[in-house]
Amino acid sequence: MKLGKETIKDRIINYLLLQKDFVSGDAIAKEIGVSRTIINRYIKELIREGFDIESRKKEGYKLVSYQDVLYSSLINFRLSELSKKYSIMIFDELDSTNTYCLKNFDKMNDCTVVIAKTQRKGKGRFGREWVSEEDKDITMSILLKPNSEVNVLKYIISSSLAVLRTLRNFDVSDLFIKWPNDIYYKDKKLCGILTETSIEMTSKVVEAVVIGIGLNVNSTISQRVKNAISLYEILGFQVKRVSIISQILSYFDEFVNTSYDSLFSEWKENMGYLGEEVIVKKGDEEIECRFVDVSRSGEIVVEKDRRIMMFSFGEITLRRS
Ligand code: BTN
Repeated sequence: MKLGKETIKDRIINYLLLQKDFVSGDAIAKEIGVSRTIINRYIKELIREGFDIESRKKEGYKLVSYQDVLYSSLINFRLSELSKKYSIMIFDELDSTNTYCLKNFDKMNDCTVVIAKTQRKGKGRFGREWVSEEDKDITMSILLKPNSEVNVLKYIISSSLAVLRTLRNFDVSDLFIKWPNDIYYKDKKLCGILTETSIEMTSKVVEAVVIGIGLNVNSTISQRVKNAISLYEILGFQVKRVSIISQILSYFDEFVNTSYDSLFSEWKENMGYLGEEVIVKKGDEEIECRFVDVSRSGEIVVEKDRRIMMFSFGEITLRRS
C-alpha cells in the first residue's frame, strides 16, 4: 500500500511523540516503511510548518515542541484510549464540515470527527453564514450514527457543556451558555453549535447526528464579525487547537455517558440571561419578555404580561433586552 504524504507525516509525528530520546532517521524510515530520503524531506516540511524537531549528528531527531498545527496524530496522542473510539479526519479545505458529514455519513464510521483547516461556506443556525479565519479557528463536526430513536437534545447539551468546560480550563470567567447552545464571553459570541440530523422517514430512526462546532480560537474575528470574539482576543496569547479539540472530545464523551438529569441541571446552571428581560425574535416579530425557565425538553420558557410562552430551538433567536 502506498502511503500519502499526510499519512507519512502523521506517522513520523506519532513515532517521535512516543520517543523519550533522539531517534535515528534510519529507525524512523524502518518503522514507517519508506526511504530515508523521504523521512528527511518530510521532517524538513514539518519544521517549516511549526514543529521544533532537534537534529543531532549520529543521534538523529527529537520532537521538542510544536506550534498551533493541526494533525490527527497530535489529537490522537492527547485522546489516548479515546482515540480508539473517535476517528479524526482533517481536511485542508471544505465548504462545510456539517455538509460533508451529512452527504457522506453512510460511508463513514460512527464517532468520526471531521475538521477543516479552512471552511469556505460555514453554516450557522437559521441559514446564517458562519465565518472563521483560515487555519486559525476550529471548525469541526462530530458524526454520530445512533441508528435508534435517541434524545438528540442530550447531544446538543453535551456538546455545549464540553466546550464550556474546556474554555473554563483557561481560567476565563464571564462565560455562559446562551440558549440553546452558543457559548458567550460577556456579550460576545465565542462558539456556535449547529446540530443537524438525518432521520429515516418511516421508522423515525436517527441515522446520523452531526454536531457542528465553530469555535473562534486564534483569529482576530472581532475585526470581521460583529459581536464575535476569539479565545486569543480574550487571553492575549495563542492556544494549540489540537489541545482544545481533544479536551472537547473527552468532555463530550463523558457528558453523553452521563444521566440526562445531571446534564440538564448543569446546562440550566450555566444558562445566561435566565431571570432577565430578553427579546425573543420570531420571524419578523420581536417580543419583549422575561426569560423564566428552560423545560426538560429544551424549550425556552418566557413570561409576558403574566402569560407564559414556550419556544423550541428552531423557532426563535434570543438577545438581551
Ligand atoms: C450558529 O451559531 O449559528 C452555529 C454555527 C455553527 C458553525 C459550525 S463550524 C463547523 C460546522 N460546519 C458548519 O458549516 N457549521 C458548523
